[in-house]
Amino acid sequence: MNDRRKLPVIPISPEKCTAVTIQFSSDSSAPKPVKKTGPVSTEQLQAAVRQALGAKASLGERPGLLKDTETAYDNRLESTIRPKTLADYIGQSALKDSIQIGLDAAKSRAEALDHLLLYGPPGLGKTTLAMVIAQEMGAEIHITSAPALERPRDILGILMSMKPGSVLFIDEIHRLNKVAEEILYPAMEDFALDRTIGKGEGTKILRVPLPRFTLIGATTKAGSLSGPLRDRFGLIYRLNFYSEQELSNIILRSARILNIEASPEGALAIASRSRGTPRIANRLLRRVRDFMAVKKAGETLINEPIAREALDLFDIDPIGLDPTDRQLLKLIIENFSGGPVGLDTLASTLGEDPRTLEDVYEPYLLQAGLINRTPRGRTATGNTYRHLGYRLPAGFAEQAQLELESS
Ligand SMILES: Nc1ncnc2c1ncn2[C@@H]1O[C@H](COP(=O)(O)OP(=O)(O)OP(=O)(O)O)[C@@H](O)[C@H]1O
Ligand SMILES: [Mg+2]
Repeated sequence: MNDRRKLPVIPISPEKCTAVTIQFSSDSSAPKPVKKTGPVSTEQLQAAVRQALGAKASLGERPGLLKDTETAYDNRLESTIRPKTLADYIGQSALKDSIQIGLDAAKSRAEALDHLLLYGPPGLGKTTLAMVIAQEMGAEIHITSAPALERPRDILGILMSMKPGSVLFIDEIHRLNKVAEEILYPAMEDFALDRTIGKGEGTKILRVPLPRFTLIGATTKAGSLSGPLRDRFGLIYRLNFYSEQELSNIILRSARILNIEASPEGALAIASRSRGTPRIANRLLRRVRDFMAVKKAGETLINEPIAREALDLFDIDPIGLDPTDRQLLKLIIENFSGGPVGLDTLASTLGEDPRTLEDVYEPYLLQAGLINRTPRGRTATGNTYRHLGYRLPAGFAEQAQLELESS
């Protein structure tokens, strides 16, 4: 590990490309130029880079939770506070331990790490971990996203440019099309590409060898991955929501990097409203800093009262729900008598995309016990009624039990 290793600035230019390659430099010289692979439209490039590097606009990002107040400056800060080494990567200790073992073993054999699938809700650190792994392996990482790999030549181009030990990171891997998947199978298994040469009777399949590389796939929906693709990953890990203490450590680390003073209690107050998610924790930290600068002139320390006052003002409630979450839960209670209500009905009443609702809003609400998924749809729980200050309807416990039994 070398502290001086730096992540280069990644220029998002309107040129055509399918993947961004990041080379980790071990000196403090200017970042190496970013290589671009393959001809693809500007939109695809921007989508790939945004999605891969976290500043995503489509799936995976929620409109609420102060996202709309993010600026380009915030997005730049995001890359400064992203941990660069496994030691800086806070929490997920079981996952880190086994990755460390994998890394040590791969290094001692001077081989590439096994292909790795990371899954879990948005903002928990999948992209970050992929970059950390590449950095720890001293390898370059090619970052792309499945929607950018529409045509066979997109994925072929990237695979042909792999070097021994390189990491290929494919975000939203559950969205890969069939053709791209089939190209990946021999590439992952045998480190080879099967190219068809000629037409008709004279058709031949030519096997082109590839260097040993590591594919890291990330997805918010492991269930949507095809079986054959999932089976080709040697390591499959789920990222879990973070504890308040872990989030508070993440906040204190980010505060140090951003030159923000925060007390442990102030950090914990932000952590407790961060929905178990580092991306949200960092975002709330920046908003509390803004609040302090505007409303508390003269104060420089984020302490507990300031953190609470700011987050109350931003309408983030004590367990981290924002107005959209509360509106969703209220809808289930008020419009659908506590449910069950189907995902599509709920989404259209809320004016949201069902996939965003399922992948972005629901995981935390499920984990917090504020929503249940049953075969007949979503239902409110006793916690939902209590948290929002509603009285439990008569017969609620019996009805809930029936729903659970039928699920
Ligand atoms: N373990 C961690 N320690 C410290 N900071 C973290 C950790 N995990 C994530 N972060 C911070 O949270 C931010 C979001 O992480 P990241 O972009 O890796 O999430 P993701 O799982 O890829 O999300 P998505 O599914 O939306 O792509 C990062 O910029 C990073 O600063
Ligand atoms: Mg990501």
